Amino acid sequence: MAYENIVVETRGKVGLVTLHRPKAMNALNSELIAELTKALDTFDADEKIGCVVITGSEKAFAAGADIKEMSSLTYVDAYKDDFISTWDRVARNRKPVIAAVAGYALGGGCELAMMCDIIIAAENAKFGQPEITLGVMPGAGGTQRLTRFVGKSKAMEMCLTGRMMTAEEAESSGLVSRVLPLDEMLDDALATAAKIADFSLPAVMMTKEAVNRAYETTLAEGTRFERRLFHSLFGTEDQKEGMQAFVEKRSPQFRNR
Ligand code: HXC
Repeated sequence: MAYENIVVETRGKVGLVTLHRPKAMNALNSELIAELTKALDTFDADEKIGCVVITGSEKAFAAGADIKEMSSLTYVDAYKDDFISTWDRVARNRKPVIAAVAGYALGGGCELAMMCDIIIAAENAKFGQPEITLGVMPGAGGTQRLTRFVGKSKAMEMCLTGRMMTAEEAESSGLVSRVLPLDEMLDDALATAAKIADFSLPAVMMTKEAVNRAYETTLAEGTRFERRLFHSLFGTEDQKEGMQAFVEKRSPQFRNR
């Protein structure tokens, strides 16, 4: 498949997707989402890839769903086609996904970043859910994920007023893991992804699954789920190698990565 709205590259064991609709601030139209889905399917199936980074431009990660595409949508069309339902492919990716965010991450763009496992932001990043200003509301998980990540009061204020959050505020409120100068941000995200991709893939994937479970279940169920996954890792050769390497004071040579 030829990509027209994204650029897809590999950097060693890292898959890099760059959203690329410069004339529309990387607004997310259905074509772009289909391409992103295809790229993620390809990376998930590629044994050589251990982690994925999604980024945009210096000006915009993504300024939301494409308003021009949506403006004439009817209720019946939206309901019948279950509009937006395919977007959560990003959240279902089995290998970790890092959002490397510079500039605007608004509406569906903010929701896309929040579907990723880690958000690393540039100092100029701005996060917001401005749908209310368009007479609608977040539709790709914004009211749910933002509330879990930054708490009710801040999420409510952002969704009800459309106020944008700076990178600094996003870091202090737990939405992003780190903020970096613009010219260092993508390299840092790629280095983080490379580090993750160098560990044992089953351990990485199970860790991701277990952390995500924290958002979906009770503490008792979550810790039981974690323990079962933990037990299963003793069935991998990478566990033997990782622990043996520690004992022998050398670097581990993981097979499954
Ligand atoms: C379609 C968009 C767009 C969008 C920007 N553009 N955002 N096109 N959909 N979401 C287009 C503009 O129309 C313009 O095209 C070009 O990109 C440059 O944008 P400007 O507005 O001229 O740039 P600037 O003045 O720098 O302002 C940047 C901005 C602003 C603050 C990001 O563009 C903006 O407010 N965009 C809309 C943000 C938004 O409301 N997002 C939520 C969308 S709803 P032309 O052709 O005029 O040059 C949503 C729903 C999610 O996401 C629900 C489920 C997915």
